[in-house]
Amino acid sequence: MGLNGFVRKYAASGVSRFHMPGHKGVPLHGLEPLDLTEIKGADFLFEADGVIAEGEGLTSQAFGSAATCWSAEGSSLSIKAALCMLRQHFGRDITVASPRNCHRAFINGCTLLGIEPEWIYPSSPRTLLCECAVTPEDVRAALSRGGIDAVYVTSPDYLGGMADIRGIAAVCREYGALLAVDNAHGAYLHFVGDKHPLDCGADIVCDSAHKTLPVYTGGGYLHISSDAPADLRDLAKPAMAMLGSTSPSYLIMESLALCAEELHGSLPERLRACCERTAEVKSLMRRRGIGDLSSEPMKITIAASRFGYDGGELADMMRESRMECEYSDPDAVVLMLSPYNTAEDFARLEVFLTGLEQREAILHPDSAELFAVRPERVLSLREAMLSPCVNIPCDEAEGRICARTAMSCQPSVAAVMAGERITGEIIKILKRYGIFGIDVL
Ligand SMILES: Cc1ncc(COP(=O)(O)O)c(C=O)c1O
Repeated sequence: MGLNGFVRKYAASGVSRFHMPGHKGVPLHGLEPLDLTEIKGADFLFEADGVIAEGEGLTSQAFGSAATCWSAEGSSLSIKAALCMLRQHFGRDITVASPRNCHRAFINGCTLLGIEPEWIYPSSPRTLLCECAVTPEDVRAALSRGGIDAVYVTSPDYLGGMADIRGIAAVCREYGALLAVDNAHGAYLHFVGDKHPLDCGADIVCDSAHKTLPVYTGGGYLHISSDAPADLRDLAKPAMAMLGSTSPSYLIMESLALCAEELHGSLPERLRACCERTAEVKSLMRRRGIGDLSSEPMKITIAASRFGYDGGELADMMRESRMECEYSDPDAVVLMLSPYNTAEDFARLEVFLTGLEQREAILHPDSAELFAVRPERVLSLREAMLSPCVNIPCDEAEGRICARTAMSCQPSVAAVMAGERITGEIIKILKRYGIFGIDVL
């Protein structure tokens, strides 16, 4: 019957609801009849052995994982749980190495669990805020210094940059380090050519199902690879339970259940067709000389400033043509596509790109130099994140110690992390990306 079968039958049964939620199934918004709680027959997310376990099993089979836990709190929960599992696997304080383009869930998880991250800096110069293209060799350089238990990589990044997870996983295996990947943007990758981090050797992978699959906002996965140490499977649910809400949204879980069925049906084929259609748009952009910063097959990142436009201005122009982007900053406009975009959506985008006039590139000659800054750590991340702080104008912050990591978008490379000293260069980066106030100790 599955979760959706149970819920629909219950909604139609006319049973008096002497249980949560308070709306009692009365459709004020519309979806209330299907919004349930953990009544008999509806299973318990964190101790699943019924309809939820069935849906998680279907999801795990679709991805080829050893185990997959659903999250009703996005990848944010999966990421914190992954860190918790790593800490429990080693059974002592651990060091996790990560590039700095991590989402705030990683920073928050490290803070709560007392993990001091060791930052991996890419060897090639960065010119964009969200870009942090670490290579297997960068990871090797970090691991060869010793003392690192696990590596955590965000791939794809917000702009669609993809790390060489296969190469990074091989280096991790060589050094006996575990590999966890924030694949929030890439849940679909397993179905379009084995590009999902699970296919490439990662031990733990966190997906936001809702970003690219037909799932309500907040739906996500925590996957454990069949090649990962076996105890990670047992640690996963308790870790999710420790950090998650005891009231996971049934609506979100129902959409995860439907998505699992779709993943065993026609959705993989439709995902591949969407990537092919996206490739046509990418090829139009190449012909017109419009740069695409994304190497993901279902995301387009228009290199706005190189084509002569501020990203914000380009996003406004798209809005006037009835298109809303995922994100824009001075350099880039990010467009996320899916099989649920219509033929008209694609056609509208192509008309817009065809009519876009090239202007003189907007250059930020100091970007590479600014982004090369490696801030000085003064206090541990945890100590700084848990200290009282005040918010002051960036212009007055030189020399002060940052108390809360400052990012302009999720997950850009933080110009400064909690516990690091704020310098003049850091203030320039913050202001360029629209951050004018900062929390300091
Ligand atoms: C790279 C990355 N990781 C994690 C997250 C958090 O995902 P969620 O919103 O599903 O909790 C995001 C959200 O934007 C993200 O971009």
